[in-house]
Amino acid sequence: MEIIHLSAECYPIAKVGGLGDVVGALPKYQNKLGHVAKVVMPAYQTRFMQENEFEVVYDGWSKLGFQNFPVRIFREKTNKLGFDLFLVHIAGLMDREKVYGYDDDTERFLAYQIAVLDWMSQWEHTPDVIHCHDHHTGLVPFMAAYCQQFNKLKKVPTILTIHNAQYQGQFGWDKLHYIPPFDLWKAGQLEWRGAINPLASAIKCAWRVTTVSPSYLDEISFNANGLEQLFARERGKSVGILNGIDNDVWNPTTDPMLEKQYAIRTVENGKKANKDMLCRVFELDPDKPLFTFIGRLVGEKGADLLPDIFYRTLIEGNGEINVLVLGSGDPQVEGRLAQLKHAFPGNYNAYIGYNEQLSHQIYAGADFLLMPSRVEPCGLNQMYALRYGTIPVVRRIGGLKDTVVDIGDEGFGICHDQTSVWDVCHAIGRANELYTDKKKMKEIRKFIMQLDHSWDRAAQEYIDLYQI
Ligand code: ADP
Ligand code: GLC
Repeated sequence: MEIIHLSAECYPIAKVGGLGDVVGALPKYQNKLGHVAKVVMPAYQTRFMQENEFEVVYDGWSKLGFQNFPVRIFREKTNKLGFDLFLVHIAGLMDREKVYGYDDDTERFLAYQIAVLDWMSQWEHTPDVIHCHDHHTGLVPFMAAYCQQFNKLKKVPTILTIHNAQYQGQFGWDKLHYIPPFDLWKAGQLEWRGAINPLASAIKCAWRVTTVSPSYLDEISFNANGLEQLFARERGKSVGILNGIDNDVWNPTTDPMLEKQYAIRTVENGKKANKDMLCRVFELDPDKPLFTFIGRLVGEKGADLLPDIFYRTLIEGNGEINVLVLGSGDPQVEGRLAQLKHAFPGNYNAYIGYNEQLSHQIYAGADFLLMPSRVEPCGLNQMYALRYGTIPVVRRIGGLKDTVVDIGDEGFGICHDQTSVWDVCHAIGRANELYTDKKKMKEIRKFIMQLDHSWDRAAQEYIDLYQI
């Protein structure tokens, strides 16, 4: 099958969170199964763009509202990512450093989607599937089905994968003219609660909808930032497919970003070397358990509670634990987390910002990884932690519920029910107690490192789903 993945992010070209990891891995694993999976994403001004070689495969014009704009599509020449990568260059709109966060994001992602459909309409053949990821590509199923100029793609099956239903990309009807001509009586397919809502439109128009874990599919009928009823209605064509991880990138035996690489057999020494390095750099005590948080500092991740959680744990713990945070996001949370450094020197430190290498080193060097998420459609961090022998401490929600089993239920992690200071502190207390049992810690580390969360399984599940 020829599968075209459309996404705003793809590791290592541009990554903000887990969406990038997924789109950087899933196509590779689909190709390994004998299919032809390709990624078509915007060309941002990133290092990848400057450091790699490309050939131009398309030069054309598209139209956004009354404005014509030139489009150039590049193909990465070497296929070194394990899939064909196409970058859609739109001068003035896409060639910027950040992926999101601009006032004209609506125009940017609409222009990208229209340009891609214009290009694909000119191919001699049609692909077998167009696989859209999140709301930035959410108008593709509608436009492919109903816009006259994309008639050629009308019959191509479209799949929507929802990585996060909190973000929907809605905009007002005053921008309707951006969408290429279609029979106006179809306009209802764009609409949700009085606005044009790309995620809602994709849920309505895509041939199949997937969520990134089975539990998240259950949860969104009750909690989906206003889309609950729509999910309940479209449940019949929806399925939850748990994400995998890229075992080539996230492999402690070969990971070039680590201080010391290690395997299951050498996990104790390996983790110690990585922890010692982190403790040296961040002035922490290597003899104490190291708790960590890695992620976007936003409400969904429970990040607003972290300062209180750490304050309380560090006061009550009498200096018995270490905490290291890596994250960026809400400036207020960033500020509070940075300030805590002065309150607990030697026990607490934080790196405010994005740092891919440091994230690998922390997965390797930490003893416990905290994920007190309010919403977690899948979560990749806990799966990386498992692969690196780090015990996850997670709230029972979404993908966390599907991947972590509590030690009290003969499992290997620590789970709690609520995103509250009390619940998380209690869970940290349980982890701390576990840490004193060296034999059990060793057993768990060896056990979790051999759990298989690779993409092999899920890549096939998607292929099965495409055979509509
Ligand atoms: P989400 O996509 O909701 O942010 P995931 O758990 O699916 O959550 O994926 C997060 C990804 O982003 C992981 O690869 C994680 O290591 C990475 N990440 C998040 N914040 C940072 C950061 N500050 N520095 C480096 N990597 C980060
Ligand atoms: C989203 C979700 C996260 C998921 C990721 C990849 O960003 O918040 O839970 O793991 O997408 O699917």
